[in-house]
Amino acid sequence: MAIHIDKTTGLIRLTTKNTEYQMKIDDHGVLQHIWYGGFVNTDMSYLTKYGDVGFSGNPYDVGDDRSYSLDTLPLEYACAGTGDYRIPAVCVTHADGSRVLDLRYEDCRVYAGKYSIPGLPAVYAEEDEAQTLEITLKDIASEVRAVLRYGVMETEDVITRNVKICSGSGAVMLNRAASLCLDLPDGDWDWIHFHGRHMCERMPERRRLLHGIQESSSMRGTTSHQQNCSVILCSPDCTEERGRCIGACLVYSGSFQTQLEYDQLEQTRLIMGLHPELFAWRLETHSEFETPEVILSCSEKGLAQLSHNFHRVIREHICRGNYQYAERPVLINSWEAVYFDFDTDKIVKIARDAAELGVDMLVLDDGWFGERDDDCSGLGDWFVNEKKLPGGLGGLAESIKALGMKFGLWLEPEMVSENSDLYRAHPDWAIRIPGRRPTRGRCQLLLDLSRREVQDYLFDAISKILSSADISYIKWDMNRSICDWYSEELEPAGQRELPHRYVLGLYSLLERLTREFPDVLWEGCSGGGGRFDAGMLYYCPQIWCSDDTDAYERSKIQYGTSFFYPISAVGSHVSTVPNHQTGRVTSLKTRGITAMAGSFGYELNPDALTAWEKEEIREQIRRFKNDRQLIHNGNYYRLTDPMTQNASFWSFVSEDLSEVLVQGMIFRTEPNRKQAALRLAGLDENAVYVNKETGETWSGSALMRGGILLPRPWGDYFGVEIHLEKEGNA
Ligand code: DGJ
Repeated sequence: MAIHIDKTTGLIRLTTKNTEYQMKIDDHGVLQHIWYGGFVNTDMSYLTKYGDVGFSGNPYDVGDDRSYSLDTLPLEYACAGTGDYRIPAVCVTHADGSRVLDLRYEDCRVYAGKYSIPGLPAVYAEEDEAQTLEITLKDIASEVRAVLRYGVMETEDVITRNVKICSGSGAVMLNRAASLCLDLPDGDWDWIHFHGRHMCERMPERRRLLHGIQESSSMRGTTSHQQNCSVILCSPDCTEERGRCIGACLVYSGSFQTQLEYDQLEQTRLIMGLHPELFAWRLETHSEFETPEVILSCSEKGLAQLSHNFHRVIREHICRGNYQYAERPVLINSWEAVYFDFDTDKIVKIARDAAELGVDMLVLDDGWFGERDDDCSGLGDWFVNEKKLPGGLGGLAESIKALGMKFGLWLEPEMVSENSDLYRAHPDWAIRIPGRRPTRGRCQLLLDLSRREVQDYLFDAISKILSSADISYIKWDMNRSICDWYSEELEPAGQRELPHRYVLGLYSLLERLTREFPDVLWEGCSGGGGRFDAGMLYYCPQIWCSDDTDAYERSKIQYGTSFFYPISAVGSHVSTVPNHQTGRVTSLKTRGITAMAGSFGYELNPDALTAWEKEEIREQIRRFKNDRQLIHNGNYYRLTDPMTQNASFWSFVSEDLSEVLVQGMIFRTEPNRKQAALRLAGLDENAVYVNKETGETWSGSALMRGGILLPRPWGDYFGVEIHLEKEGNA
């Protein structure tokens, strides 16, 4: 049993393999949050005792008890307007204009299995893999209810949360509905968030909490390159191997807000969910609104364990479809090879050369459709450009297949170019405000995906493409941030629903397509990793991690990505040098090592390769195929911090601890340095490990405590790869 309810004391405990989460219904029916951490086997409400805190008022029903205040207590789902002055989780406007909610416990129920959320991606599980708790809180005056759902995944050490807000006999406007409110009784925390920009996504930044509110968020309509919808709170002494940490990851692909408040009593509140600036929802009488889901996990063994928990739950309970576990093909993508400048012959030549190297699939990127010779036209016209590709996609796919390869294709379905037949026929399908000039991004506008007819158009157009040729893979791109929010379909009072309705429309379209074409491997993309989130991973088991393919930069981007997202989800390719984004030259070995830590491929023209480089690529592909299972399903360890150290190293350790692959690079090479030792992690300390290449042996304990000696580097960005195998016991 993972859910324990004591009706006499009001204590509710959720337990997973290593963690315990406690709530308590107090004498006033307020649901307090009293613990999230390791097992304590004690009612932790003894920690929350307060005096009379000045200017923290008291609910009417507590009488003259001035020590009881909603402004000080740790709350499970905090409301606006009733004397808790910290960030609220939920806020509504009633018909009379008042904006108060006072949510008190009504009832709860427990059932086997994991709840699902209509229209939204969420963790899924078999009946015996999870338990669900639903707690209903009610505002007596308005009859508004909040149904707090908890999915307890015992083995995964994960608790998921989502909230259903229900109106009563009066209509209300929902102004804020967070997915997560987590009050921690202490403030002794660092927070880690992931910021960045296009071509530099998910840079981890760790800071002590400051009094007041700190935030990471996106108002771009997507989860964005600039901030990721994931956050970690950790004890100041927390390292990869030690210390307490809590991670929260939103399963959503639109604008979001994560806020942390370090309050007057040095307690911490974490709020996560839809960004209230781009949200309001009309709830007519007796209707419901579902928030996106948050995945929570807690580790007392440092950040590596926390990442493993997230990797496992995302890989096994978010990713779906035929490619969830199937080996991902090694692909070659045409983008950095030829950009818009191609015809059938050029593409077939790339495929032929790549096939000889062992590549499994050719992906034709942007430029194959409509009048699209640069990025200013054609989006929306999803029919093949016969001038470039006479014989169409069918003919091309057959030529590629004849080489023993699969064929994949790029699409950017959510967009429309003004210079396109689609826009000329349906200008009102674009998101823009009548009477105003729209803001363009990469010269393009967005289609209003909240509209069913737009979704249907895209479903038909994409189905037609997929049925016209043997297509094994789709790269679903999205190349701008969203603004000028306005839908012709919505009433003025409903316009603030559009950002969320857009995401719901996108999910509905992806759901229909992935069901209709289950054999296709879908890869997400938004100018690289601008929409790298668990919401997209529900439909696309891999996402192009960044438009920056420079190995040095990529190693940092992949480092940041690895805190929450599994390695199999990370699309990563070897590209040419000088690198097209940075001009940097790194060795083919280093580029290969970096790209192998993901769903591997190439993004270059093989025609330009020397015979020696071709041989090296053949060897890379052979090694990747050999290690693919270990890389995608093994436990991933970050061995250095590339943001502060002169090296980026990581490793993969098989579940049974018998296979180890260490990869990485030393950034800058300096003469007369002592040969560096790299401490490994996650090994069997009592076993002997042998270096498969050199035959040297060490105990697991020595490798974890003393480290393995790295080769003396020669040249910058010096790539290293070491295979170890368990030989026996020490
Ligand atoms: C952005 C993607 O991230 C690139 O890989 C490429 O597909 C271009 N779009 C094509 O326009």
